[in-house]
Amino acid sequence: MSDNLKATEKLNEFRLKLNEHNDKLVRASQKMIIARSKFAKREVDIEFVKNVEKEYKDVKREFKEITDNSFFAQNAKEAKEKLKSTTKNTKEYWKAFEEYKLAVFIFKESKVAIKDRGHGGQLSKLSDTALKLDNIKFRYREGHPFAVNGVSVEVKHGDYVAIIGHNGSGKSTLSKIIIGVLLPTTGSIEIYGNKVTRNNINMVRKFLGIVFQNPDNQFIGSTVRDDIAFGLENRRVEPSKMADIILESAKKVRMEEFLDHEPLMLSGGQKQRVAIASALALSPNILIFDEATSMLDPKGKSEVKQIMVELKNTREKTIFSITHDMDEILNADKVMVMNKGQLVKFGTPKEILSEKDFLRSIHLDIPFVAQIEEALQNEGMKVSGSANLEELVKNICQK
Ligand SMILES: Nc1ncnc2c1ncn2[C@@H]1O[C@H](COP(=O)(O)OP(=O)(O)OP(=O)(O)O)[C@@H](O)[C@H]1O
Ligand SMILES: [Mg+2]
Repeated sequence: MSDNLKATEKLNEFRLKLNEHNDKLVRASQKMIIARSKFAKREVDIEFVKNVEKEYKDVKREFKEITDNSFFAQNAKEAKEKLKSTTKNTKEYWKAFEEYKLAVFIFKESKVAIKDRGHGGQLSKLSDTALKLDNIKFRYREGHPFAVNGVSVEVKHGDYVAIIGHNGSGKSTLSKIIIGVLLPTTGSIEIYGNKVTRNNINMVRKFLGIVFQNPDNQFIGSTVRDDIAFGLENRRVEPSKMADIILESAKKVRMEEFLDHEPLMLSGGQKQRVAIASALALSPNILIFDEATSMLDPKGKSEVKQIMVELKNTREKTIFSITHDMDEILNADKVMVMNKGQLVKFGTPKEILSEKDFLRSIHLDIPFVAQIEEALQNEGMKVSGSANLEELVKNICQK
C-alpha cells in the first residue's frame, strides 16, 4: 500500500475518532453544568460535583491526545524528502511530486478535521468499487425469517444496476441497508472502500442519494427552486454557490424552466424529475431509485427512464434501480435478481434473460421485447439480445 493510501485511510479514522470524541466531550460538559446547578439547589454534594468535573477533565485530555496529527505531518515531510532526493524532470520526479502534493493535502485536511471536530467531514474514496456487500443478513424481528439472507455482491463505480424480484423478496429491505436506515444483523458493507459502521454512517450517507416511489411524498418547498435548495441548506452549502448548483441540477433533468413553479402543480413525471434534481444537487456518487417510475403514467415513466439512461451514460454515478418494470432492465449494465431474501442471479441483462424459465419459476415477467424474440425463436428465427424495439426491428430486418 502506498504511504498516501495508508494516510488517506488514517485520515478517515482520524475524522471518525474526532467526531465520536466530540460527542463525548459535549456530553461530559453538559453533565458538569447539570451537576453544578444541582449542587446550587443542594440536591447533590460537593464530592459529586468534583467527580463530574474530573471526568470532564479526563475526556478533555483524551481529546487533546486524539487531535495529535503528527502522523500526517510526518507523512508530508517524508514525501518532501523523497521528492528532494529524486533527479529533477524525470518520470520518477513527477510521480514523487504528485505524491508530495497529495501528502500536503492530506495534512491540511487533518487540520480542517480538528477544527470542525470531524463534523462535515467527507470520507475519501478508497476504492473504485462503489458497493461491496459481504454476506448481509437482516431480519425485522428475532425469530422471524431473514428478509435479506446472505447477500454478497460487488458493484463498480459507474454501473447501472437493476434490482428485480417478486413482492417480498427483500429488495426494499436491501436498499434500506445500503442507505444506512437499517443496520444488517450480520455481514459487512463497504462504500468506495469505506467499511460502514454505526459511527461513520452519517459521513457515508454523503455518497448516497435516493429517489422514492411516490412523487408527492418528496416535496417540502413552495417552489421547485426552494425544494432543490432544501437539501443544500441542510448540508450548509454556501448560499453564494446555491443558485448555480440549483440551475445545474435542474438542467440535468430538463426542469430549468420550472424553477419558480409550484411543485404540486407539476405532472408526476415532472415531480420525479425534480426529486432527481434535488438528489443530484447534493452530488452523491451513488443514486438509488426505489420503484421511482411505478406510480407514473406511461409518459412520466418514459421521461424518467430517459433521464436515468442519460445519467448512466455520463458514467459519473453508480445507479441502483429497484423495479418491477422488466423492460427497464434492458437499460442496465447488471441485474440483481432477488428471491426470498437471497441474491439468486447477478449478471448482464443478456445473461439473465437467457434463463426465461428460471425467471418464470420465481414469478417474474419477461420484458416485452424478449417475449417477441422468444415467439420469433419458436418460429425458427434467430434473434436475441435486442435492447429495445428499434433494435429488435433492425435485427429482424437483417435476417
Ligand atoms: N417493517 C417490516 N416489519 C416486518 N417485516 C417486514 C417489514 N418490511 C418488510 N418486511 C418483510 O420482509 C420481507 C421483505 O420485504 P421487502 O419490502 O424488502 O420486499 P420487496 O422486495 O421490496 O417487496 P415489494 O416488491 O413488494 O416492494 C417480506 O417478507 C416482508 O413481509
Ligand atoms: Mg419494495
